[in-house]
Amino acid sequence: MSIENAKKQAGYAAVDQNLDPSDRIIGVGSGSTIVYVVERLGQLNTKNDLICIPTSFQAKQLIVENSLRLGSVDEFTEIDIAFDGADEIDSNLNLIKGGGACLFQEKLVASCAKRFIVVADYRKNTGLLGKDWRNGVPIEVNPLAYKKVIKGLMEIGGKPALREAGASKAGPVVTDNGNFVIDCDFGEVPSNQVQSLDAKLHSLVGVLETGLFVGMAKKAYIGEEDGSLTISK
Ligand code: A5P
Repeated sequence: MSIENAKKQAGYAAVDQNLDPSDRIIGVGSGSTIVYVVERLGQLNTKNDLICIPTSFQAKQLIVENSLRLGSVDEFTEIDIAFDGADEIDSNLNLIKGGGACLFQEKLVASCAKRFIVVADYRKNTGLLGKDWRNGVPIEVNPLAYKKVIKGLMEIGGKPALREAGASKAGPVVTDNGNFVIDCDFGEVPSNQVQSLDAKLHSLVGVLETGLFVGMAKKAYIGEEDGSLTISK
């Protein structure tokens, strides 16, 4: 099965098996897998009853393109259910997110959600954070503080790199919130150390949010290479 089909299978099953008839306010994550969640939401007869809360400019566009109703997280701080992709998932459902630079709004929406469901293809289910996701932990920082944060990250044993925009733009990636992203490699992070690493990162002045999602996900829907589906809880 192609990676694209694995993503689609995870996205569709996550909606079909988790959306309750009483759910009204839906958090919509970012990335390439969430596309299939929104596609599925857009196929529901009850779609007009739903209000979708985006986590990025991309998510906002997806919601509108699928003729779903758009809300905002500053309007609805109680979200019935949120769906989102992940860059890496460990055996305790801790996540690395932020490969698409949307981590702050993604974590805000997930933190407002009664149930947070992850959708991903098989490459993301590594069992240990930092195992395959060689880019490290994405960290959103205020631009004025980026040098100081880089210094602080090196002092706590990380290997930080300011994320560059690449061919599309000279200079760093700028997030939907006008900030920079630093990707910091800490090697493999055991499940029982993810929380304390997150706390250390938050103690650095200038850090808005980190891509470590600790204990937030209720379930992960993983589309497997052989066409099957794994549901981790
Ligand atoms: C966006 O910042 C990320 O957190 C994405 O949700 C994550 O990178 C997963 O993206 P894919 O679904 O494209 O793998």
